[in-house]
Amino acid sequence: MDKMIIKGGKALNGNVQVSGAKNSVLPLLFSTLLAEGEHCFYNVPKLSDVYSAIKLLEAFGVETEWKDDALLIRVGPLKAVEAHYDIVRKMRASILCMGPLLARTGEASVSLPGGCAIGSRPIDLHLEAFQQMGAELENQSGYVKAKAKPLKGAQILFDITTVGGTENVLMAAALAEGTSVLENAAKEPEIVDLANYLNKMGANIKGAGSSIITVEGVKQLKANEHHVIPDRIEAGTLLIAGAISGGQVKVEKCRPKDIETLILKLREAGFKLNEGEDWVEIFPQKSWRAVDVTTAAHPGFATDLQAQFMALMTLAEGTSVISETIFENRFMHVQELVRMGANIIPKTRVAVVRGKAGCLKGAPVMATDLRASASLILAALAAEGTTEVLRIYHLDRGYEKLEEKLARLGAKIERAKES
Ligand code: EPZ
Repeated sequence: MDKMIIKGGKALNGNVQVSGAKNSVLPLLFSTLLAEGEHCFYNVPKLSDVYSAIKLLEAFGVETEWKDDALLIRVGPLKAVEAHYDIVRKMRASILCMGPLLARTGEASVSLPGGCAIGSRPIDLHLEAFQQMGAELENQSGYVKAKAKPLKGAQILFDITTVGGTENVLMAAALAEGTSVLENAAKEPEIVDLANYLNKMGANIKGAGSSIITVEGVKQLKANEHHVIPDRIEAGTLLIAGAISGGQVKVEKCRPKDIETLILKLREAGFKLNEGEDWVEIFPQKSWRAVDVTTAAHPGFATDLQAQFMALMTLAEGTSVISETIFENRFMHVQELVRMGANIIPKTRVAVVRGKAGCLKGAPVMATDLRASASLILAALAAEGTTEVLRIYHLDRGYEKLEEKLARLGAKIERAKES
């Protein structure tokens, strides 16, 4: 297993480019199951989650090829409709194959994903929606077997805003018979990116990005090409890297609108930021104020940036109250930050961070999930001395060459083998 070794105390300076969005490319890859032909995606990040999704697509008989700066996905008749536990347990987004399989073949057998570090993460809302669209489901030894010949459009009301649920149902509804209306739909930029590609393939989707999405089912979709949107969570992580290290960093090839709540919170904390069409620049601050954050569905403060922002607040002047409203166990990074000297009191879904400049000292710490690993690396950039972040495979799921990007900004960071 790999670890990351970071020598703290260096201000990061310079320009850095953001990769394509993990949470957009994953549903986009599964949407290819809806349409025969050769799909072509640009700006695809090279991440372990992307490789897992490709492996699952190939199990369905799909061919894939990295060609120049594109990922080609060639879809013909599908040969298997089962998503095995060994793939789903490693990457829960695999459940996003269910909607397309049901819509395209009328059946799907998908392993229930099981829990994960940050929460139980059920998929009940996905399954209820498929039932409303006429699917018959049964649970057989950890697999959901679904049949729907055909899938019919329905009025779907999500009682919790769910990103994956919205995406799964959107893909199913694209080929269902009749009209579907999704109410209380998620509004994340990744939903809009998926809807844009589905419409390029010939779907008839209106309202993506708002809480009511209408889908007129069509008979067939055709493969097309698409440029994956920039990863807003990576963009936010890189901005916080500049902030916490006291440097001047310009994050390029991003979409400032997608991280406007983070930018607002950084300004509230006293940071100066400039924005352009596809870039955001943050300027050095010797000290910054503690600000409160409550995570919420987009366009609220992204839960995927909560751990990273908490690292910044450990060094702030004052006390920051961080509320995590989306997942029930997304404070796994707290105890590791405390090992580095941070003063954080975790309660249920709320953490009280008593900031103190210079409190972070290098230490061996353990990554527990994707965004927690990013948080520990950010803390290590500012800590006095050397930090080793173990189990860095968590980071590799969602960040493409993060250590290279940070090193180019001047960070003293290298990857090594855990002894
Ligand atoms: C997506 O997960 C993202 N993953 C997550 O990013 C992100 O944190 C999350 O959305 C929220 O923005 C991908 O896009 C691949 P949800 P998803 O369904 O779809 C509950 C990262 O770090 N819920 O919006 O699984 C659920 O338990 C990852 O990149 C149900 O109760 O999130 C949670 O409390 C982590 N029943 C809340 O809704 C359901 O059927 C939001 O979950 C579905 C969800």
